[in-house]
Amino acid sequence: MCIFLSFLFLFPLVLIIFKNLLPSKRKLPPGPTGLPIIGNLHQLQGLLHSDLHKLSLEHGPVMLLRFGVVPMVVFSSKEAAKEALKTYDLETCDRPKLVANGLFTHNFKDIGFTQYGDFWREMKKLVGLEFFSPQKQKSFRYVREEEGDLLVKKISKSAQRQTLVDLRKALYSFTAGIIFRLAFGQDFHDCDFIDIDRVEELVKETETNVCALAFTDFFPTGLGWLFDRISGQHSRLSKAFANQSNFFQHVIDEHLKVGQPQDHLDLVSAMLDMINRPTKLGSFKITSDHLKAMMSDVVLAGVNAGVTTMTWMMTELTRHPRVMKKLQEEIRSTLGSNRERITEEDLEKVEYLKLVIKETFRLHPPAPLLLPRQTMADIEIQGYYIPKNAMIKINTYTIGRDPKCWTNPEEFIPERFLNSSINYKGQHFELLPFGAGRRMCPGMGLGINMLELGFLNILYFFDWSLPEGMTIEDIDMEEAGDLNIAKKVPLELIPSLHQA
Ligand code: HEM
Repeated sequence: MCIFLSFLFLFPLVLIIFKNLLPSKRKLPPGPTGLPIIGNLHQLQGLLHSDLHKLSLEHGPVMLLRFGVVPMVVFSSKEAAKEALKTYDLETCDRPKLVANGLFTHNFKDIGFTQYGDFWREMKKLVGLEFFSPQKQKSFRYVREEEGDLLVKKISKSAQRQTLVDLRKALYSFTAGIIFRLAFGQDFHDCDFIDIDRVEELVKETETNVCALAFTDFFPTGLGWLFDRISGQHSRLSKAFANQSNFFQHVIDEHLKVGQPQDHLDLVSAMLDMINRPTKLGSFKITSDHLKAMMSDVVLAGVNAGVTTMTWMMTELTRHPRVMKKLQEEIRSTLGSNRERITEEDLEKVEYLKLVIKETFRLHPPAPLLLPRQTMADIEIQGYYIPKNAMIKINTYTIGRDPKCWTNPEEFIPERFLNSSINYKGQHFELLPFGAGRRMCPGMGLGINMLELGFLNILYFFDWSLPEGMTIEDIDMEEAGDLNIAKKVPLELIPSLHQA
């Protein structure tokens, strides 16, 4: 009897041990054959999203690669993305602990790169209340409208002189102008320690380095560590981090100066207030590291994604004069003639603008692989086994071009969204510019708001033409970037004041 009972008790245990010892029968996703030690790293030599696009067309919508010792699974179909972000939302919402991400976020004290858990939840709630909430955003309305007016004023000067406008620079000044005032309480158009070119340089330097893959991420500690030091990667990261940190310290110091004008309570003021409170908020005490980590998130996520989308949108409009004409006619007839300024009451009114925005997101999602994620458990997607701790990439670039989802996918046709319920809010997995699930972008409302306001301004007041001798066929569509994939060659156009 005793032997029988022991057998009953031990049998399941023996089964579990055996199951773990036997080679896995579970089906791993297909993928390109890698080399010993480095895995598939040698096959990725261009822009990552573009290399993964080509490889996924060859190997299928669920593809396994190896970066050194780390398995990386790429999901490139609407169905696979839906399973990953909806069915397994919880299991896929972690972020990998990458060296550069840790450095720039003061050891993951931010929202975007920190691992999933209580800290992320509490930080998101805090920053949500102080920055992303609809009430807070409503109170910042005048800032966005003023920056819209300034954009029109600057372009008007070029229109009078008939000189070229670099659209990225103009839209950068508009977007960064808004984000810096909302988040940092800093008007850099009127600032003695930084100007727009330096802001752009700093954000670019941070983005390049935040996204830089360190050998330490993919090779066992000692080897990767050594390689990062010999290759200069470690010192490059440290230098960029010091530049960013000094700049943020400058902004903080300005806030701490007595008598600084405070026209509204920006994110830095709100977080400084939390730092000075004697009690903890939730389970941790906010420090200046949390503040700097959040400043880094907001600058990276808030400025670049918006500017990148706006530049692509203006590029596609210039390449498609029919769409540009239709959009301008709809904007002007909806808003009426002789308007002196655009306000946020005008947003939402122009139906065709929404279609153009969706079509731009489909072909040019600013972060084509979203942010890196990591599985927290073994899961099965589209019949393939995905192990715990695998890095995952949601390939929205390939999904946006998938002929199974879109007719004539390479063509820019905003009308495809007419009478279609597909939107970008994370429920339609063929269009995911803001991601989906728990880690979806919390800045979507603000991002869309800036996009619409910017475009109503530049398309209501101005007509745009290419420089003398240039045709739409000459517009270069080459991409560049690290996290946000932007247009490489500047888009330069000549504005003319529209005569009603
Ligand atoms: C057109 C504008 C924007 C686009 C296309 C965009 C896109 C994205 C994407 C793709 C992600 C990753 C989602 C994922 O991993 O599933 C993300 C995350 C994030 N975005 Fe945005 N974003 C935009 C504007 C903004 C703005 C204006 C802010 C704030 C000022 C912002 C703050 C964030 C933050 C904090 C995260 C991290 C969320 C988390 O990990 O929990 N974004 N965004």
